[in-house]
Amino acid sequence: MNTRVIVAVIVLAMCAACQPPPVDYKARGAELLAPFKTNLKSALVKGMESGPVEAISVCSVEARQISAALSVDGVVMGRSSHRLRNLENAAPEWLAPVLRSFAGGSSDLSPVALSIDGGRMGYVEPIMVQPMCLVCHGEALQPEVAAKIAESYPDDRATGFKAGDFRGVFWVEFPER
Ligand code: HEC
Repeated sequence: MNTRVIVAVIVLAMCAACQPPPVDYKARGAELLAPFKTNLKSALVKGMESGPVEAISVCSVEARQISAALSVDGVVMGRSSHRLRNLENAAPEWLAPVLRSFAGGSSDLSPVALSIDGGRMGYVEPIMVQPMCLVCHGEALQPEVAAKIAESYPDDRATGFKAGDFRGVFWVEFPER
């Protein structure tokens, strides 16, 4: 090998080393959401032991605390829906088209990773209604549950769901690389 070729090989190797390794945003997003989902579920199950009316405040307070605690190193995460209970969970702009597509009866409800802007990426995972959710999101709520929800969330649009329905999403916003 002559010197010029050796230099070219070294430069190429250095450039390859400068590039950040590619990130699998779907895998990373799922990994970041895992503790949010687990902690929220156990807070909800624990809250339900004291009854659904008490669990309503668990759901609102703890969901925010858990997502805030896990939103570190420039990562932001949250929950949203096409039929919101709490308007503070409104979708960030980039999420709106994904939410519309999931809610519009899309047969493909698999998680998606997409680029947002300025080189940032987002990750979205659908949330389906399970039987335990119906106590607070179903078609026929107990009167005291309905009253508590109406009092805390006068603009609630998150009832009338059936098990297996699309309820909303978990989302993650990655920082710029
Ligand atoms: C004890 C009542 C209760 C149960 C059971 C419950 N939720 Fe909720 N859910 C709430 C309340 C209250 C809020 C509003 C939380 C807030 O203020 O951020 C909420 C909010 C949400 C949101 C955020 C979007 C929005 O509408 O504000 C999603 C998504 C959601 N629930 C999904 C579920 C799913 C899925 C289940 C079942 C695994 C479930 N919930 C079970 C009471 C409940």
